[in-house]
Amino acid sequence: MSTSDSTGATTAAPAAGFPEFPPGFAFGAATASYQIEGAHDVGGRGPSIWDTYCRQPGKVAGGATGDVACDHYHRYREDVALLRDLGVDDYRFSIAWPRIQPTGSGPANAEGLAFYDRLVDELLAAGVRPAATLYHWDLPQALEDRGGWRVRETAERFAEYTAIVADRLGDRIKRWITLNEPFCAAFVGYAIGRHAPGAKEGTGALAAAHHLLVGHGLAVRALRAAGDCEVGVTLNPDRLLPATDSAADLAAVRRADTLHNAVWFDPIFAGRYPEHEAETWGPLADGSYRRDGDLALIGAPLDFVGVNYYRPITIAAAPHREPDPAARTAVDIGAAESWRDDVRHTTMGWPVVPEAFTELLLDLDARYPNLPPLYITENGSAEADTVAADGQVHDADRVAYLRDHLAALAEAVRAGVDVRGYYVWSLLDNFEWAFGYDKRFGIVRVDYDTLERLPKDSYRWYQDMIRAHRLRHERPAATDHRQD
Ligand code: FCB
Repeated sequence: MSTSDSTGATTAAPAAGFPEFPPGFAFGAATASYQIEGAHDVGGRGPSIWDTYCRQPGKVAGGATGDVACDHYHRYREDVALLRDLGVDDYRFSIAWPRIQPTGSGPANAEGLAFYDRLVDELLAAGVRPAATLYHWDLPQALEDRGGWRVRETAERFAEYTAIVADRLGDRIKRWITLNEPFCAAFVGYAIGRHAPGAKEGTGALAAAHHLLVGHGLAVRALRAAGDCEVGVTLNPDRLLPATDSAADLAAVRRADTLHNAVWFDPIFAGRYPEHEAETWGPLADGSYRRDGDLALIGAPLDFVGVNYYRPITIAAAPHREPDPAARTAVDIGAAESWRDDVRHTTMGWPVVPEAFTELLLDLDARYPNLPPLYITENGSAEADTVAADGQVHDADRVAYLRDHLAALAEAVRAGVDVRGYYVWSLLDNFEWAFGYDKRFGIVRVDYDTLERLPKDSYRWYQDMIRAHRLRHERPAATDHRQD
């Protein structure tokens, strides 16, 4: 059966009808500090590793930086009004550590705390609950200069920063996310060098992964001590599809699973280091960075886990360079990653495979019996948006992506996975890391010359869906959805 929704996009209706979400299921939108705030040298903010990385020639497309970004620091009232009109329950944003402690340690910077105070008050006045991420990759540069996540001291500083923020904002922020995608912070940042700080290391990257986990554990402890709140972490588990069912490709999937998934999920939710780590890392994993008691710290109970999902990855065996720990060579697990090519791709080049989302959630649920409730803390798509002659952005591809992924999520919920909410990435077009401003993920367009915000069709579609609390395909907003 083929139907069309309020934006005119045509689709096959999901087999099970028009999914409804459980009562209390939260809808939200997500952003991150470095990607939207700008004001990089305002209010006493210190430099972060991303300020440094962006200034290195050739690292970021178009030589872009987050110096201005969406100028959310000055325009947050307008952005909160967009959230209010959208009708979201929750807003996930991140706090910039270098605004709170410009050099990563020592007393709090009053102006930095005051900004988040204003933001949180504005959100609450708009009826939107804040969900704050403490680390979305903007490490104070001063800490990187002392070793960054390669050294345990950074985890200890992270706990101090967390305590400062929780003390000031914990009366109003009741949902905290310690880290965002430590996979990217550790491996994209310290192993393949495509994110700040741009390092290409082996043992250093594994130490970074471990110290991020230790930092998470210490931050959980600080948040628990600060009072009544929900605490979780956002991970980006990957659905890994073997290129063929050959033994070599399946072994490569096992190693890739260690790198992408088990390295985080096993210590946090199963109280162990990953089963296949020796086979995956070889001599790079010298364990020198581990201490007795770390697993208990890292595995402290959480109230929820945030999951970011965009696309599955295809994995094939690849020639494996023997790592040389002395030379601290980059991590090489003998696996080649590629994208399925038989489906549509977003402008990131990512394949659109909604059913992989359902499979991922079911798989996590089966694999980790102690998994707490889930929030989908990011999901969305970068599309080649244009402003049409009528002055609007008719982003039908993004609407289709969101609709199909929400249907895939509803399917997992129906099958028994305990998912409590969904946050679209992203409220605004923003600084997409090494891709600069070329990739647009927003449901609101940002004109980077004027900084004007323009809600896209996807914004109106999401608004309508939130109001209905279910996916619909045929009826306009004013009808009684229950009769679908
Ligand atoms: C995730 C990041 C987020 C954004 C999306 C597209 O990996 O957490 O900041 O860049 O990808």
